[in-house]
Amino acid sequence: MNLPLSFKDKSVFVAGGSSGINLGITLAFAQAGARVAIASRSAERVAGAVEALRQHGGQVEGYSADVRDPDAIAAVLQQAREAIGPFDVLVSGAAGNFVAPALGMSAKGFKTVVDIDLNGTFHVLRAGFEHLNRPGACVLNISAPQAFNPTKFQAHVCAAKAGVDMLTRVLAMEWGPEGVRVNSIVPGPIGGTEGIRRLAPTPEAVQRMTDSVPLQRMGRVQEIADMALFLASSYASFVTGAIIPVDGGSSLAGGRDY
Ligand code: NAP
Ligand code: COA
Repeated sequence: MNLPLSFKDKSVFVAGGSSGINLGITLAFAQAGARVAIASRSAERVAGAVEALRQHGGQVEGYSADVRDPDAIAAVLQQAREAIGPFDVLVSGAAGNFVAPALGMSAKGFKTVVDIDLNGTFHVLRAGFEHLNRPGACVLNISAPQAFNPTKFQAHVCAAKAGVDMLTRVLAMEWGPEGVRVNSIVPGPIGGTEGIRRLAPTPEAVQRMTDSVPLQRMGRVQEIADMALFLASSYASFVTGAIIPVDGGSSLAGGRDY
């Protein structure tokens, strides 16, 4: 990040922070001086991420929990708050995806993704609110272009992420008077991530996806992390309820097939 942003003495909790974009966001906050905590299902993945984050110094805590389980996520939010203090930044980024036509997914398949992405975000934010450092705290939901681009074979993700963005708007209204800002970051296709491995599993698919981006390239994890730092900083102190694409213009192209 080129802006001189410091998060020294700040606390950041990232749900789903053990890999990919969310780990990149966590790393950026750690490098900017924050105490950070992450949670995801796999204890092994959490341990690996904590080790990587600790290379950069500062306090790092990791917890194993499934965002679909409200009691489990409430318990780790409580533990994290005791370890790193009330959160200045709360990120909800846990998500699941697979490519399938609506008629090719069972009720459980559809529900699984809605439970992780949408209900999971509600659980993280609902239980996280009492641990926010108010006034002044910032909530970041990690959305996706499927929230507003109807996308074939992504009925579950489209429905879930549209819900996430609506939660962003509603909670920005409910929590604004408490001094809490709530925004969504909408990454475009980000190279080297699990999301892209699933959506564009062949070199041809990667090329098609890249060609569809007006800037003619995939994004970088760091570019999403930069937006997270900006939104959490005083530079964005009057920004709330915003759905912000960081996507090289790809959302301008509308819906697409995978
Ligand atoms: P990723 O590496 O698979 O990250 C997903 C993270 O969520 C993992 O750390 C995973 O860890 C955790 N997770 C999954 N299910 C969970 C659950 N039920 N409870 C708790 N944690 C859970 O994927 P990514 O591609 O970086 O995507 C990260 C975010 O960016 C997602 O919100 C995604 O929708 C969004 N996004 C990505 C792209 C892209 O190009 N990659 C584009 C647009 C939006 P465990 O397996 O340990 O649980
Ligand atoms: N096509 C159709 N249905 C599928 C599917 C596919 N490719 N992949 C999974 N499902 C269905 C399963 O069949 C199951 O339904 P069923 O029991 O009726 O058959 C349902 O989804 C749940 O699958 P399960 O593997 O039990 O779920 P899980 O909770 O262990 O894992 C996923 C959740 C499926 C989303 C898994 O891919 C995951 O953990 N993803 C996290 C990482 C990720 O997706 N990263 C990218 C983020 S953008």
